[in-house]
Amino acid sequence: MEVTGSAARVRDACDAARSGGATVGFVPTMGALHAGHRALLDRARSECGFVAMSIFVNPLQFGEARDLAAYPRTFEADHGVAERAGCDLLFAPDGADMFPNGRPEVTVDPGPIGGRLEGASRPDHFRGVLSVVAQLFHLVGPCRAYFGEKDAQQLALIRRMVHDLDVPAEAIGCPTVRDPDGLAVSSRNVRLSNPERAAALSLSRALAAAANAVGQGERSADVLRAEMARRIGAEPLARLDYVAVVDERTWEEVTEIGGPARALVAARVGDVRLIDNVALVWDGDQAAR
Ligand code: PAF
Repeated sequence: MEVTGSAARVRDACDAARSGGATVGFVPTMGALHAGHRALLDRARSECGFVAMSIFVNPLQFGEARDLAAYPRTFEADHGVAERAGCDLLFAPDGADMFPNGRPEVTVDPGPIGGRLEGASRPDHFRGVLSVVAQLFHLVGPCRAYFGEKDAQQLALIRRMVHDLDVPAEAIGCPTVRDPDGLAVSSRNVRLSNPERAAALSLSRALAAAANAVGQGERSADVLRAEMARRIGAEPLARLDYVAVVDERTWEEVTEIGGPARALVAARVGDVRLIDNVALVWDGDQAAR
């Protein structure tokens, strides 16, 4: 595995791989790699002749300096994960490699979906994500890029950017990886104490209850939202930020489940902000029963 901080080298290596007939698979990350990232790398490795991964803790997507400072940095361990997964190229730039002329003045506007949910709670977060992902896509060139469904709104916005700006990349969503008790794996989980980790389970359990209720025929999004809020609210160590039930296409809140929908939750547990979501599978036949 080649490791580089050079943008020019990434461009050359990916161009050379494509010239040799390989499909380039790309896994953009901020490091602190966990089982979710390993699943993305494995999928890329199984589908592509050449696999590139980036590790860059993107300052543009953090609102508060303390969140950026607190983000775990585990490069030695990450290097081992990438190598064992058969990654061909690890791009690990520092701030000067990515932004040699300082922070970018021209950025990507995430549009209306980017103002909802995570975008409402974290102003400019998605502008920062899309700007850096666009820059990485320009370096890597045509590729299949792999993202976790745990960050469902991020994935939807990247797909929208790829579509609206004709980016020569395919954004592929991979299922959320969960610990055996249901907690969605996240780089932030290492900052949870044992009691906080137990409290964090209220998020995945609230979502599972919502998905289960839909499976039993519940169609009212208000009922689902209220039940999720009740479950997370009952956990003293969790401070709820939002619960939502949205249309997968528009990301607007729905009143009734009648098509592809997603339930999402965000909460602070101790000092750690956690998000999770689940697809609500509506079997249209239920309406006829
Ligand atoms: O999901 C992440 O780790 C980041 O938001 C991403 C896509 C690497 C952009 O910095």
